Amino acid sequence: MIDRLVVFGATGDLSARYLLPGLAALHASGCLGAGFRLVGADRSSWDSGRFRAWAEEQLDRYGAEFPADARRAVADCAEFRRADVTEPADVAAAVAGEGPVAVYLALPPALFPAAVTSLHRAGLPADSRIVLEKPFGENLDGAVELNRLLADLVPEPAVFRVDHFLAMTTVQNLLGIRLANRVLEPIWNSTHIAEVDIVWDETLALEGRAGYYDGVGALKDMLQNHLLQLLCLVAMEPPVSLDERDLRNRKVDVLRSVRPLTEADALRRTRRARYTAGRIDGRAVPSYAAEDGVDPARRTETFAEVELELDNWRWSGTVFRLRSGKALGADRKEVAVRFRPVPHLPFGEDEEAAPNLLCFGLDPEDLTLQLTGTGAHTHTLAPLTLQARMQPPELPAYGRLLLDVLTGNPALSIRGDEAEEAWRILAPVLSAWNRDLVPLQEYPAGSAGPVENYGR
Ligand code: BG6
Repeated sequence: MIDRLVVFGATGDLSARYLLPGLAALHASGCLGAGFRLVGADRSSWDSGRFRAWAEEQLDRYGAEFPADARRAVADCAEFRRADVTEPADVAAAVAGEGPVAVYLALPPALFPAAVTSLHRAGLPADSRIVLEKPFGENLDGAVELNRLLADLVPEPAVFRVDHFLAMTTVQNLLGIRLANRVLEPIWNSTHIAEVDIVWDETLALEGRAGYYDGVGALKDMLQNHLLQLLCLVAMEPPVSLDERDLRNRKVDVLRSVRPLTEADALRRTRRARYTAGRIDGRAVPSYAAEDGVDPARRTETFAEVELELDNWRWSGTVFRLRSGKALGADRKEVAVRFRPVPHLPFGEDEEAAPNLLCFGLDPEDLTLQLTGTGAHTHTLAPLTLQARMQPPELPAYGRLLLDVLTGNPALSIRGDEAEEAWRILAPVLSAWNRDLVPLQEYPAGSAGPVENYGR
């Protein structure tokens, strides 16, 4: 197990909200050895004392559920190095030390090529690993180039392109529910399933993340990675095992089967929008364009929706809708599987039976099965819904991911070809959006999102 983690971009939002609490969780569960060291690296001219104090504050704020001694231990094992990732000498100083190191690039994707080049020049100790946050690159060409640079630096199994959704309990349970019992798998195909909505609607607005988000937008922040990964797990063929090769091969099969979108499809099957001023839970939210650090001329979308179909035996004829937006009126974070109506309803014409709906709640982690429909006029059909709360996770998603990095298990990280396939799927959408073929709609913060369905 590697016992030195160097985080570039260490004083940012990702570090505060996820990496530090993830480390506290690992410490609390006894997974971090006594020799573990965290090196925070950043352009700011902090010193180790200031970094430790900041880390403690963030842990109190975002990791309060972990024991105080675990939080303190994480802050205590931290040190700070001033480093500009475009300067190989700074990078060399930050990674220098005994034995292999795990290098975490908690940086905007535009900085990845420069950071990887600097690491190459600096040289990494043997058996080191590198972790990159999503999105992996800014487009298909960028991802191909980044993969080439990484291949010169470390072997593929040492590259962790992380996607924390894969480490969520619900997502893990989705695999369990699909693959460890006989109930679902025989009907898990287009004969029985009409559509699947993979949705991550947030009430959360920009929350001071313009530096990262304004150059990225909802399509690259959520759909290109998290939601396409969920699509893979919902639609893949049962793998032989969940090891890095079998699992990732099956996911790549799904991505390769996505029917390429044409320009006409982009207009008919994609939507993009940006929030204007509004209220969420009684709180006033400024329009995205007026948020600090946003350049309105970039026309960054805060809502993205794409409808896809898979050209393979199992799924031909099922529609998969991927959608995510910020500053919406309600949180809706789920994979909703809608079954086809039954071939014949023997209750008479007045009866309505909504098709069965199986929802994997991602947050909160609820599993819901709608069995019979609403709107029944007789006593035979009464609305019936089953709901179960899933077990709370032993480790939060980032704890699990960090453990995989430190112990060297890349099964839940995205392989290089997988990242490229994901970009290939969205390239026509990006091109149509960049050329303004699809209008950028607006929706008030706190609303249900954009209302127009162009071309549908
Ligand atoms: C991140 C995105 O990867 O996932 C955010 O950058 C999003 O925009 C977040 O809000 C959602 O995941 P979680 O685990 O923070 O709820």
